[in-house]
Amino acid sequence: MPLLEIKNLKMDFGAGAAALRAVDGVSLTIGAGETVCLVGESGCGKSVTALSVAQLVPSPPAHYVGGEILLNGRDTIKMSRAELQQIRGGVVSYVFQDPGASLNPVFRIGSQIMESLKLHRPEKAQDAEVIRLLKLVGIPAPESRLRNYPFEMSGGMQQRVMIAMALASEPRLLVADEPTTALDVTIQAQILDLLRELKQRLGMAILLITHNLGIVGDMADRVAVMYAGQIVELAPARELLLRPLHPYTRALIQSVPKLAGGARRLSAIPGNVPRIGHFPPGCRFAPRCPIARPACAEKIPELIEVEPGRWVRCPFGS
Ligand SMILES: Nc1ncnc2c1ncn2[C@@H]1O[C@H](COP(=O)(O)OP(=O)(O)OP(=O)(O)O)[C@@H](O)[C@H]1O
Ligand SMILES: [Mg+2]
Repeated sequence: MPLLEIKNLKMDFGAGAAALRAVDGVSLTIGAGETVCLVGESGCGKSVTALSVAQLVPSPPAHYVGGEILLNGRDTIKMSRAELQQIRGGVVSYVFQDPGASLNPVFRIGSQIMESLKLHRPEKAQDAEVIRLLKLVGIPAPESRLRNYPFEMSGGMQQRVMIAMALASEPRLLVADEPTTALDVTIQAQILDLLRELKQRLGMAILLITHNLGIVGDMADRVAVMYAGQIVELAPARELLLRPLHPYTRALIQSVPKLAGGARRLSAIPGNVPRIGHFPPGCRFAPRCPIARPACAEKIPELIEVEPGRWVRCPFGS
């Protein structure tokens, strides 16, 4: 049984006539200890898909209209509030792009990590464990640092504290949503190295969301490419980078900033991602696709397994 199995997930914002489909039939599995990258331009539905795992998209406006999200075999869509509280920051932890989203400015960082320990590993709720976690994420002089408030630390150090907080529960799955975009390139590389090392040491799985295909090769076992609420390509990372099959994936790879580790937002693909509620009929990428033909506008192509483990939503891509 995979650790996480998202099956044909369909999620709307709004209900009835006003419903807009943001996630449209997404299926994705993550095995224990595996790193899967979710890539795609802004607004494709990466965050709402990832947040859905622990039911962190506020509902309303979100409505799950189909599919399942099996975490250790249990559907999080059907979980009670109490069960969700238990898994959040427990078996699945999140690291967000913005430390401000997770760190409370009025509490010392040590006590924030302690809160997570009390909730998820009460037997370890001691200063020694907080210090061990801060050390684990590479914070120097953790014994004194734990008394700092977030504003007393740099952005990179705050990001490390967030990771320490996320690791406090010893999650089986770490969801990292653009965890380094706000940081400068050197710090970004350090944080990614840290995630890779922690994953190896702790054996946890990572769902890593990024705009930047440049980091995928270093981090991912597999990659899922999202466009307009759907997965358009899913493949082992190396194969996808060496031989992308979907025209959208190719366009993404061509638009990777040439600077190693650069994190500029993608800008090179002509046109824009359609907004939810304004998806074109047929293939959603067709209006921007260099190889589109008239048939592409007629019906949405199926996501097809063209080789073992390689899935593509384009009959003309290979
Ligand atoms: N609370 C909300 N209410 C209505 N629409 C929303 C809400 N949150 C997200 N959306 C819409 O859902 C779509 C997917 O958003 P999402 O945040 O998942 O994109 P993303 O791929 O993570 O983009 P980015 O790379 O910019 O983070 C977007 O069109 C967005 O405008
Ligand atoms: Mg996002």
